[in-house]
Parts: sequence; structure tokens; C-alpha cells
Amino acid sequence: MDILVTRRLTLRPPLDVDADAIATALQNKDVTRMLTNVPNPYGLDDAVNWIKRVDEDKHSAYFSIYRQKFLGVVSVQTSEDGEADLGYWLDRSAWGQGFMSEAARATVSHAFRKFGFETISSGAYEDNRASMAILRKLGFEADGARPHFNPTRNCQVSCNRVVLTRSRFEQLFGSLETSVAA
Ligand SMILES: CC(C)(COP(=O)(O)OP(=O)(O)OC[C@H]1O[C@@H](n2cnc3c(N)ncnc32)[C@H](O)[C@@H]1OP(=O)(O)O)[C@@H](O)C(=O)NCCC(=O)NCCS
Repeated sequence: MDILVTRRLTLRPPLDVDADAIATALQNKDVTRMLTNVPNPYGLDDAVNWIKRVDEDKHSAYFSIYRQKFLGVVSVQTSEDGEADLGYWLDRSAWGQGFMSEAARATVSHAFRKFGFETISSGAYEDNRASMAILRKLGFEADGARPHFNPTRNCQVSCNRVVLTRSRFEQLFGSLETSVAA
């Protein structure tokens, strides 16, 4: 089991014990209105099934974020065509303390090293300024825009796509051969 430790956080793969906290967090529409792939409504069964599915996915990195309690999820997911995509969310109570900047940097660093990706993509709805700020700080650069359906809003929302190369990440944060979690 991969475990990442950052200055304030511990990241470990999602476990069954997280299911209640995940289901509770993803019943908050402030959170899900910014996410493309979360069913609405969201229940405990959805969380249990999601944990089972990610446990079986050995080509992706999924982490539950902990600081005394469960705070959220961050992942670099590999699609069938080998594309890597960063995604994340935090329980509403954990916003605004820099936690995701810390967790996402550690996860991106881990994913580049473990899977040898040359690029990692991501995206955020155009009204998601906090997420765009995180992606910019990590070095992600603009890669167009396209609409994505949002189940909570029940409509298409324009999504800014971004991409990060391994070499740009290394320029900003140091060699992946030697770097440790942020
Ligand atoms: C996006 C999300 C993960 C951000 O997590 P967070 O830990 O609160 O983010 P951070 O505290 O690391 O802050 C990120 C940056 O955004 C900035 N920011 C926060 N809210 C902002 C806003 N409304 N407008 C502009 N900037 C904002 C912060 O100042 C910070 O910038 P800084 O580090 O330069 O000061 C969290 O808001 C969330 O879970 N949202 C719902 C789900 C979601 O949007 N997931 C991402 C989908 S792309």
C-alpha cells in the first residue's frame, strides 16, 4: 500500500472505513457542482462501490486525505488509452486551508515517479477559481476548453483543460529522482 506523508497530511488508498465520510461529503452540492463524474443523488452504496472499483485499478493512484479525520480524495487516474488525469475534492469543512495544494503536489509527484508518465492532464469548470489556482501553482498550462455535463447542475458547463509535463514539474519543484512529498 502506497502512503504519502506531507507536512500536514497523510494520504493512503481509500478503504471501506472511508465510505461514510465520502458519502456525507458528496451529498454537499457545493462540492459536487464542481465535479463531472459524481452521481446525483449520492449514497453510501455509491461510496462503497467506488472504493471497491479504485482498489482494483492498479494503473492509477487514488488517495484518501487524512488530518486527524478524513478530509477528501485526490487521484491520478489512468484511462484505457494510457492518459493520466488529476482529480480531487475536499469535504466542504476543509476548504481554504491550502490542504489540496499540498495533497495534489504530493500525488502528482508520486504519479510521475511511480508510473513514468510524461504528461498529466486535468481540468476545472471555468467558474472553479480555487481549482484553477491549484493547477496553475502546480505548473499546469492551458490546453483548450470543452463542455462537460454536471449531474448536480443538470447542464453542460465549460471546462478548462490543462496539461503538465514531467519536465515542467521538475523545473518548478526539482528532480523527481530525489524529490520527496511536499
Ligand atoms: C477545489 C478545492 C479542492 C480547493 O481545495 P482547498 O484546499 O480549499 O484549496 P487551497 O486552500 O489549496 O487553495 C487553492 C488556491 O485557490 C485560491 N482560492 C480559493 N478560493 C478561491 C476563489 N473563490 N477565487 C479565487 N481563488 C480562490 C486560494 O487562495 C489558493 O490560492 P493561494 O494558494 O495562492 O492562496 C475545494 O474547493 C473543493 O473540494 N471544491 C469542490 C470540488 C472541486 O472543485 N474539485 C476540483 C474539480 S476540478
